Amino acid sequence: MKITAISIFPEYFAPLELSLIGKARSQNLIDFEAVNLRNFTHDNHHTVDDTPYGGGAGMVMKPEPWGEALDSVIAESSTDIDLIILTPAGKKFTQRMAEEMVKSEHLVFACGRYEGIDARVADYYRSVSKVKVQEISIGDYVLNGGEVAALVMIEAISRLIPGVIGNPESLAEESHNEIGALEYPTYTKPAEWRGLTVPEVLMSGNHGHIAQWRRDEALRRSKLAE
Ligand code: 6GU
Repeated sequence: MKITAISIFPEYFAPLELSLIGKARSQNLIDFEAVNLRNFTHDNHHTVDDTPYGGGAGMVMKPEPWGEALDSVIAESSTDIDLIILTPAGKKFTQRMAEEMVKSEHLVFACGRYEGIDARVADYYRSVSKVKVQEISIGDYVLNGGEVAALVMIEAISRLIPGVIGNPESLAEESHNEIGALEYPTYTKPAEWRGLTVPEVLMSGNHGHIAQWRRDEALRRSKLAE
């Protein structure tokens, strides 16, 4: 899978060299590239924003640098592209969406700053046949830009690539699996720690009872979290 992030802060993506994602990159499971939006400006100040039509606070990202950056990414790509525009006004990102996005050949993350990207950018690329556009938010709070949201999505998606996670069973068992229940509580040795003990059933060796207890606990947790 190819992943491109377009941003005025490409350094934000340096942590992708580490841990899980770094491993996926070194095994050529993911080909990641950060693109600096300012490379697609032509003025001395490398301007990417301007005041909003209609007035109001803040600045809006100009469409021209986005158009040039995206045209260049599209021209260099041999496959169809899933363009993810990060915006707090987008559809909320879920585990189900991550499971769909992991099937993509090329994910392009457009990370907006300021008050967002000129709306014509999303509209224009919706009419480009090679490109499928989605406007996505990671939750009901406001970040300064899409970079951290893109990092969250890249981690959630890339760990679903076969071979990135050592034990595929841990993917099925973990929280937000298809059943939608949060995962059950887990324990390891010692059996007693600071006066707190491990639930008896987990040390019983009765696999049926253990499975039932885990289902009950996962349900109880997901009810508490509602
Ligand atoms: Cl994708 N961007 C920004 N700026 N804020 C957010 C977000 C995205 N998702 C949640 N909050």
